[in-house]
Amino acid sequence: MLSTKYQLIPTDEHSSKETSSAPWIVKFLVIFVGLSTLAFYTWSPVVVLPEASTLATPSAYEALTKWETVRVTSAFEEDVSATDNEHPTTDKEPPTTDKEPQTTHTDHPTTDNEHSTTDNEQSTTDKEPPTTDKEPPTTDNFHPTTNLVYQRSTARTTKASESAGKKKFFVNTPQCQMPYLNPFSKNILKIYHRKYYVVCDKRPDMLKVSYNDRDQTYKLHKNSANSTCCYKQILRAGVRTKADYQYKLLPCVTFSQDYVVPSHVEAVITQCRLSNSSKVLQEDGFSFVHPRKPDRTPPSSAVAGTERRPSVLLWGIDSLSRMNFELTMPQTYKYFREQPWYELQGYNKMGDNTFPNLMAILTGFNQTRSYSKCRPTAVGGLDACPMIWKNFKAKGYATAYAEDWSSTSTFDYLKMGFRTPPTDVYGRPLILGLEKELKKKYIKGIPYCLGRKSAAEYIYDMAEQFTEVHKDRNFFGMFWTNSFSHNDFSMPSAMDARMVKYMRSLDHNGIMNNTIVIFFSDHGSRFGVLRSLDSGFLEERLPVIYMRIPRWIRDKYPEFLHGLTANKNRLTSPYDIHATLQHILELDTPADQLPRPEGCPTCHSVFQAVSLSRNCSLAGIDHHWCGCVGFTEVSSTDPMARTMAEQLVEAINKFLTGLNLTQKCQTLKLAKILSVHRNGNSNVYLVRLTISPGGGALEASAEWNPKTQRISTTVSSISRLDSYATQSKCVLVKAAKKFCVCKK
Ligand SMILES: *[C@@H]1O[C@H](CO)[C@@H](O)[C@H](O)[C@H]1NC(C)=O
Ligand SMILES: *[C@@H]1O[C@H](CO)[C@@H](O)[C@H](O)[C@H]1NC(C)=O
Ligand SMILES: *[C@@H]1O[C@H](CO)[C@@H](O)[C@H](O)[C@H]1NC(C)=O
Ligand SMILES: *[C@@H]1O[C@H](CO)[C@@H](O)[C@H](O)[C@H]1NC(C)=O
Ligand SMILES: *[C@@H]1O[C@H](CO)[C@@H](O)[C@H](O)[C@H]1NC(C)=O
Ligand SMILES: *[C@@H]1O[C@H](CO)[C@@H](O)[C@H](O)[C@H]1NC(C)=O
Repeated sequence: MLSTKYQLIPTDEHSSKETSSAPWIVKFLVIFVGLSTLAFYTWSPVVVLPEASTLATPSAYEALTKWETVRVTSAFEEDVSATDNEHPTTDKEPPTTDKEPQTTHTDHPTTDNEHSTTDNEQSTTDKEPPTTDKEPPTTDNFHPTTNLVYQRSTARTTKASESAGKKKFFVNTPQCQMPYLNPFSKNILKIYHRKYYVVCDKRPDMLKVSYNDRDQTYKLHKNSANSTCCYKQILRAGVRTKADYQYKLLPCVTFSQDYVVPSHVEAVITQCRLSNSSKVLQEDGFSFVHPRKPDRTPPSSAVAGTERRPSVLLWGIDSLSRMNFELTMPQTYKYFREQPWYELQGYNKMGDNTFPNLMAILTGFNQTRSYSKCRPTAVGGLDACPMIWKNFKAKGYATAYAEDWSSTSTFDYLKMGFRTPPTDVYGRPLILGLEKELKKKYIKGIPYCLGRKSAAEYIYDMAEQFTEVHKDRNFFGMFWTNSFSHNDFSMPSAMDARMVKYMRSLDHNGIMNNTIVIFFSDHGSRFGVLRSLDSGFLEERLPVIYMRIPRWIRDKYPEFLHGLTANKNRLTSPYDIHATLQHILELDTPADQLPRPEGCPTCHSVFQAVSLSRNCSLAGIDHHWCGCVGFTEVSSTDPMARTMAEQLVEAINKFLTGLNLTQKCQTLKLAKILSVHRNGNSNVYLVRLTISPGGGALEASAEWNPKTQRISTTVSSISRLDSYATQSKCVLVKAAKKFCVCKK
């Protein structure tokens, strides 16, 4: 027997089905070397380029160390010095004492020996996603100019300057510069209040639910032999305009000890009292997700067993930016980084609030089309909408959708909702019933506790039940919560530890084995203190998103991982997630034959690398919501562009002269200006050019002085974008290698 709902969660030691197999000593060495390198570049500017400091003439040396003068300035500047794995605030990590009430609510004595499920995804090789920011060679030939590997951040000199205060980016591609924001910046920490898990009811449970894996039934167990309990079944009621707003309660049915819940009972309110009294001592609410038999046989290809399909679990949290996720849910963040989860740091919302963004994912429609085609304010409008869960259902998947906070739900807030349940399993009747029947505790205006448990946990417990009962077949589930994130940016911290437990539990139950889990949000804080900071512009626009990919997919389609890894720091949008879901429906279809989202025909599955030339309009993101701030294109035929490019080449030649390398290296000439971008209204420009001889591609940031018509730059802010290994064998000075084309 396996209890899904109240199971013992594995501890860290044996938590993952997929722990990395790298021995600890290797990890230790990697970390040690990483930290030492970091320290070296961060704290010792004088020895940043030891070759140069010993070899260079004073003027060249000065040039090498003067890079700080070309810092890009912006509102975000004060926050950008932290490196990825160096939070200044690790001391702000929540205390490890766990305030969760699992002792009263989730423990039960029989769980210990219940996890007999075989260890299904033991990893033998280390498939952890790369932790460096370095991009893999792109396989992208979507755009003719993108066969340059864009690796600005991999140049040593650039790296050094970055860690010493220069800008870092979530996305830094020719058409999109999205600056890195430090989630732990001082002004945010000043207003952030770490919260603790909210215990809705401290009293011990009078009832316990257990799930029997073998016959797929739920049992209601009374913890005291002297109690009498009954349940009231919650049923969807209401017609037409009220279809998604009404429920009915059936009379309370008294049940015996270890009662097997009938399969038509999906949601209940329970009442327990002492046998000799009529006073109700405890009311509670439960969902029971029963297995759905496929109502049509899956298509022949699946029957033939040739095509293995993954299940899909969308795990959504309203109003959570990637920065705020990292700040408020550090344990979950850490968990994701230790597991095969892939983040998209340049994931940019496409519309204002939840509805357009979720519709872009579920239908691929833009906002106007979502309203015109799906008519959410008309009875039955959304029922006729081509939600992607219908495509999954047509392939034989069991489907589910549940969301908390009924008045604000995505499809019901100022909308008509669904006339008939949109999915096989539908959480709304339960939530309506719980909100009405049970005692509520409001936090920041949201019904947070519904009776003895938080609203979000009902949704997640349903997700756990849904995935567990369907784990031997395919399912598509979307579980969305608003209650702990919508009105207070600090509140997600109350759910952090609990979230890790849910994720571990999915892993432990073998769900991760065959499920693509998408942990995501619709947008960041759209209002409130966080939004009003300078960082608020991007805070609002960059929702968190992580995807977990099952091992068999990683093994069978390694190219997907290359795409995902490259896309970590590319511009992506909800339309890409729609395209990804389409892709999941037909993993073996070649990329160019996959359906594209109607609202963004240039968007595609995130399993394919996004073109380096993508801009917001190519990602379906309206100009207003575009998080690619900073740079605007300047025509490369502009005389100023030409002057800047020529001065850059001149500076490189001077640098080589300064290093006494003129006898070895050829004098360089400007070949072609690839692009010029201006950062906001500043005088800072990003110039990309090619040189001759050799044809090397360079990218430089430079400050233009309109008065003197001169740039100030240094060679350390010039990156070489292509490989130069064969051209510069004659020099040993690292800083010169990227420019030197050896004389024959
Ligand atoms: C249950 O009731 C019996 C008598 O009816 C009593 O002896 C016993 O102490 C009760 N147990 C609890 C836990 O209340
Ligand atoms: C009911 O039973 C409980 C124990 O099960 C006992 O403590 C309590 O006094 C009883 N109440 C009445 C009114 O008999
Ligand atoms: C996990 O995947 C393996 C194959 O990769 C399969 O043999 C096993 O049955 C799966 N386990 C579960 C619980 O789905
Ligand atoms: C929305 O998409 C439709 C096609 O689905 C298109 O005709 C329309 O121009 C788009 N609207 C906007 C504002 O992009
Ligand atoms: C985005 O790129 C496309 C293709 O290069 C171009 O046509 C379009 O004008 C660009 N949009 C913006 C807003 O720069
Ligand atoms: C430059 O190179 C020449 C010959 O290769 C050498 O004589 C001279 O000392 C060098 N100057 C410096 C400053 O290294």
